[in-house]
Amino acid sequence: MISWGKSGPAQAEVVDERPRASLESGASSAVSSGASHGARHVAIIMDGNGRWAKKHRLPRAVGHQRGVEAVRRLVRGLGPMGLDCLTLYAFSSENWKRPEDEIADLMALMRKFIRSDLPDFVKNGVKLKIIGDYKVLEPDIVEMIEDALRQTANGTKTIAVALNYGSQQEIARAAAKAAEQGAVTVESISAHLDTADLPPLDLLIRTSGEVRLSNFLLWQSAYAEMWFTDVLWPDFTPGHLEEALASFAMRERRFGGR
Ligand code: FPP
Repeated sequence: MISWGKSGPAQAEVVDERPRASLESGASSAVSSGASHGARHVAIIMDGNGRWAKKHRLPRAVGHQRGVEAVRRLVRGLGPMGLDCLTLYAFSSENWKRPEDEIADLMALMRKFIRSDLPDFVKNGVKLKIIGDYKVLEPDIVEMIEDALRQTANGTKTIAVALNYGSQQEIARAAAKAAEQGAVTVESISAHLDTADLPPLDLLIRTSGEVRLSNFLLWQSAYAEMWFTDVLWPDFTPGHLEEALASFAMRERRFGGR
């Protein structure tokens, strides 16, 4: 069982003594090493499915399908990278504003993904975690998710999927729970976030050239490094993640100190 330690800024204030590639190692050798360079937790805002479809003159739904294939490539390529957790923004609490048929397409893809890839998760020791209020999804998806959570409970690496997730809502829920139990502090809020049992966020990636957080992991990003790329999500490969990790390796993280 991996011990994540406590998450949140209170912990992030301490000096980061995790192993880090030396500056001399350079981006290209870092990429070929396939290591996480000390990063334990990476999160991705998977953006650009629609633009990918438009660029290829294909229906939007195909962009989302290719987006799922990018997720699958990444999950399968994760083993040698040495990450403990990868968090993926699959459906935000604001995505309900999209047309009904697009929401239905995304939910259908979710069902299909769980059905087809759950055996791989179990076989490879990957634990599924959901952040966000997934219980409002259609009952059959909730049931499939809960079955997947049970089947993968003993996994040692985590794929956290954000579903009906909004970071402001998560923080408000956590603060309310903290208040019910006593003092509202950084630590008590952190302890009630959906991510409380995950390692601190090291690196946040967003694809498609957009440079904003869109209500994703706002609290958890307090000291995370950011990596933005113009690559559209369906074109994202494990090689791009390695590139992001190589960039992470070059950053000097001071957590507010000097
Ligand atoms: C953003 O692209 C992407 C989404 C809103 C959905 C992300 C979902 C997936 C990649 C598939 C489901 C994931 C799993 C884990 C099965 P966009 O549609 O906003 O693209 P655009 O900005 O180019 O229009």
